[in-house]
Amino acid sequence: MSGTFVTPQPRPELMELPAYRAGKPAAVVPGLTPLKLSSNERSEGPSAAVRARLLEEFAFNRYPDPMNTELCVALAARLGVSAEQIVTESGSLGALRLLLDVLIPRSGGGEAPAEIVYPWRSFEAYPILASVAGATGIPVPLAVDGTNDLEAMADAITPHTRAVFVCTPNNPTGPIITREQFADFMRRVPANVLVIVDEAYTEYVDDPEALDGIVAFSEHSNIAVLRTFSKAHGLAGLRVGYAVVSRELADAMWRIRPTFAVTALAERAAVLALADTEGLAAHVAEVQHGRRAIINALRDVGEHPLESQSNFVWFVPRDPDSFEACAARAAISVRRLDGGIRITVGDAAATERVLALIADAEH
Ligand SMILES: Cc1ncc(COP(=O)(O)O)c(C=O)c1O
Repeated sequence: MSGTFVTPQPRPELMELPAYRAGKPAAVVPGLTPLKLSSNERSEGPSAAVRARLLEEFAFNRYPDPMNTELCVALAARLGVSAEQIVTESGSLGALRLLLDVLIPRSGGGEAPAEIVYPWRSFEAYPILASVAGATGIPVPLAVDGTNDLEAMADAITPHTRAVFVCTPNNPTGPIITREQFADFMRRVPANVLVIVDEAYTEYVDDPEALDGIVAFSEHSNIAVLRTFSKAHGLAGLRVGYAVVSRELADAMWRIRPTFAVTALAERAAVLALADTEGLAAHVAEVQHGRRAIINALRDVGEHPLESQSNFVWFVPRDPDSFEACAARAAISVRRLDGGIRITVGDAAATERVLALIADAEH
């Protein structure tokens, strides 16, 4: 045999994708406890009630229930949907990837690839998942107030569009979409386009005008909702989230879902966390209080943070390099994206340190 051997190579188009960048850990500074506020996690983790019961008589030797029946039934009761409309996965990221796998046709035979419209700046993973699914991503810039610009997103829909991602509250900016804005948008979305409402931060919302994706799901047949236990429930490390979808989509998703995508421990933690309404309410109240204090402190020093309905605050500092460096000296990691900074709102102690950082950084 002659010629050069070529070792197996990945699909070349994948090498063009931006790599997913996770939030950095906090710098080690002698005498200070590192405080990671770069990934919108619940800083204190799930409540003591959840932790205490998690390992009680836990059977490590058994495979998980492949359908996560207990969790799906508990979620269905909580959300007022059927358990057959819920698909659990390894995080809502896993659920979104699975949903796109069943939705986006594999292009071949010369037809144009499907298009996915998504807001930008928004969640890092959207452009990556759209490309992995074989679709053309159509990013639509946010409105000036940091919300998804639903009018422009509706304008971007073409006959090739198969899905539109809507992120409310939007990561990394923080504001929500109102029911009214969404109703106007849905009037313009063709029935064959799936609107995927990503509500990873829904528990933190207290604006009475805010869209509730589950209510919208009950009113339209072309809506899917993504939710997660990674944020307000404090289980990011266990990886469990879900999609609420039509029975047809759910059936297809279960057919191709990796059998044990959600571990037994993750399912158990999610069931306990869902029942822990008191612990969740206390955590959410603390974050809502903290985000107000951080927004006010930033405004007091002349910065312009956006209103947030989430567990983070976004602003474009006058001097982002200096703010980030000051945070590192205080052993706090924040998230720098383009010219802006996103700070996760943690518990009261974390908020105290952020307020001290703001005072220090702005001198
Ligand atoms: C808007 C949004 N959606 C989804 C996710 C994914 O969360 P997970 O896969 O942990 O459920 C995140 C995580 O940061 C997010 O910000």
